[in-house]
Amino acid sequence: MNLKINSFGQYLSNYEESVTNPEEFWNGIAEHFTWKKRWDKTLSWEFKTPSIKWFEGGQLNITENLLDRHLPHRKDQIAFHWEPNDPNDSDSSITYQQLYHEVCKLSNALKSLGIEKGDRVCIYMPMVIESIVSILACARIGAVHSIVFAGFSSNALADRINDAEAKLIITADGLNRGGKQVDLKSMVDEALTSCNSIKHVITLDCIHANPSMTENRDVWYHEIIENQSLDCPAEAMNSEDLLFILYTSGSTGKPKGVVHTCGGYMIYTAYSFQNVFQYHEGDVFWCTADIGWITGHSYIVYGPLLSGATSVIFEGVPTYPDAGRFWQICDKFKVNQFYTAPTAIRALMACGLEPVEQYDLSSLKVIGSVGEPINEEAWNWYHKNIGKKKCPVVDTWWQTETGGIMLSGLGDHSPMNPTHAGYPLPGIQPVLLDSNGNEIVENGVEGYLCIKFPWPSMLRTTYGDHERCKNTYFSNYEGYYFTGDGAKRDETGMYRIIGRVDDVINVSGHRFGTAEIEDAINTNSNAIESAVVGYPHDIKGQGIYAYVVIDSSENSDTIKASLIDSVSDKIGRIAKPDKIQLVSGLPKTRSGKIMRRILRKIAEGEQQNFGDTSTLLDPEIVEQIVSNSIL
Ligand code: WTA
Repeated sequence: MNLKINSFGQYLSNYEESVTNPEEFWNGIAEHFTWKKRWDKTLSWEFKTPSIKWFEGGQLNITENLLDRHLPHRKDQIAFHWEPNDPNDSDSSITYQQLYHEVCKLSNALKSLGIEKGDRVCIYMPMVIESIVSILACARIGAVHSIVFAGFSSNALADRINDAEAKLIITADGLNRGGKQVDLKSMVDEALTSCNSIKHVITLDCIHANPSMTENRDVWYHEIIENQSLDCPAEAMNSEDLLFILYTSGSTGKPKGVVHTCGGYMIYTAYSFQNVFQYHEGDVFWCTADIGWITGHSYIVYGPLLSGATSVIFEGVPTYPDAGRFWQICDKFKVNQFYTAPTAIRALMACGLEPVEQYDLSSLKVIGSVGEPINEEAWNWYHKNIGKKKCPVVDTWWQTETGGIMLSGLGDHSPMNPTHAGYPLPGIQPVLLDSNGNEIVENGVEGYLCIKFPWPSMLRTTYGDHERCKNTYFSNYEGYYFTGDGAKRDETGMYRIIGRVDDVINVSGHRFGTAEIEDAINTNSNAIESAVVGYPHDIKGQGIYAYVVIDSSENSDTIKASLIDSVSDKIGRIAKPDKIQLVSGLPKTRSGKIMRRILRKIAEGEQQNFGDTSTLLDPEIVEQIVSNSIL
């Protein structure tokens, strides 16, 4: 089986084969990789418990596949070009050989600090090459990484450290983001006041902030790697051993640790990367995500390195020092495949064409979108002004839980339709279900998007709580993995994602559970009760609208500022509400359930058509909320 698909016809035949003969299909893909021991059984699964195992009996180390395997023929090839936040600072790059040595040194350093196979290591880092080294060092020795996006607060960090019972954390003294510097080490210090599992902190000197260091616990990155051997044996991992945990938000409770395992994740990230982006030898790929999100895991780190690619990694933000920054970087490194989020496209679209026109974008071949539905206007702008109408737009739909891209065009081999993610990748069997849980077979329909057959990079469990995995993803519709998204399938079988059908909101491509934000608001002593909903936002896709019942006679601006502080403190500034309406009560049913449907409509600007309100306890509350709503 060829790993690379070269035409739409080939896609169709590979797809067909992947459905009729999935085990043979994936065997053919898995054979492209280096295994320490070949697998005995390709797949065993059931979606009830659930239990999903790929390539059982197989042993491998993913870093051997993305480093050692490449060294004989690409040791001097650049793995990453690193571009700093400030264009006036110097950039740097790292070759595959250098990356191998850096990874081995840090692997040995982790071992010297007592980290063993199976231990969890938290990574709370800026967008620098050492973050990638940290990830790979964990994988090399079989430690499970849990990356926490550096925009999360110390409380959110502590929750994640405690849930994973991480033994060590790798961080930096701080990071540069646009015109600001963020102090990371003191966030870590604060988090650690409520974490008992962490024995050591490795700190990278990134911004020379001179942080305080706790004796016997804290070590400098540059000191601990000094004098370490340039080689480190790669631990033999079973295919189903944990590779990483990544926390993500759902409709209820605290964020959960999505678990990915070694073998299947390796196969699928490489396969999807090469096919969706049609990456060819010598190309330069750039994914603008942060390594703290799944997109960074799969398409900055694993997919590209497994494919021997050269990539760009960027420390900064799209609008600093100006709105031409992305395009300047594309021009500078002659980027061939560019992958970003609709929110960035919309923000840059609002800045006009001048920043785009200053740069030569002729190297681009494929441009991608991920994280949220892309609206038609943004799609067209991106296609016309960035892709110059010659680059296909790959609108990639997937999730933290899916590990890799599920629905998307494959470079220029697939038909395109703006706002449609497109067809499933080989091996992916999506279905639409109606509200009774029945599969809708015809086209031109809308339904709940589910997947009915396992694929190699799907989540295996939620860390420490398998029951939660079952309840969240496998119980709504028995026998299916439920995505939480609603979708349309057009007459040609292409999928278009409508959006979440649960209480998850997607703000600038970041997922938050409304309950999680409400919990944060409710920690504020002024708040009695709150309800959070999403509303359409021009740039962010969805904005956060919070209705808060308060117990205070203080000035409302002061209260709102303090509510925002509570959210920043519990989760991080990325989750702060865009609009806060102080209300005297929330619309509830007689049985005390908040009628979110009404609140969603009000946030969308609706004044009166709220549908069936017969169960509403106090209609006057709704009138009051409408008359004071923030538009
Ligand atoms: C949404 C990000 C429409 C969707 C990779 C999904 C999208 C959630 C798209 C997962 C897309 C992601 N079109 N919606 N191309 N890509 N989504 O876990 O609602 O951060 O369920 O993974 O983002 O977000 P997550």
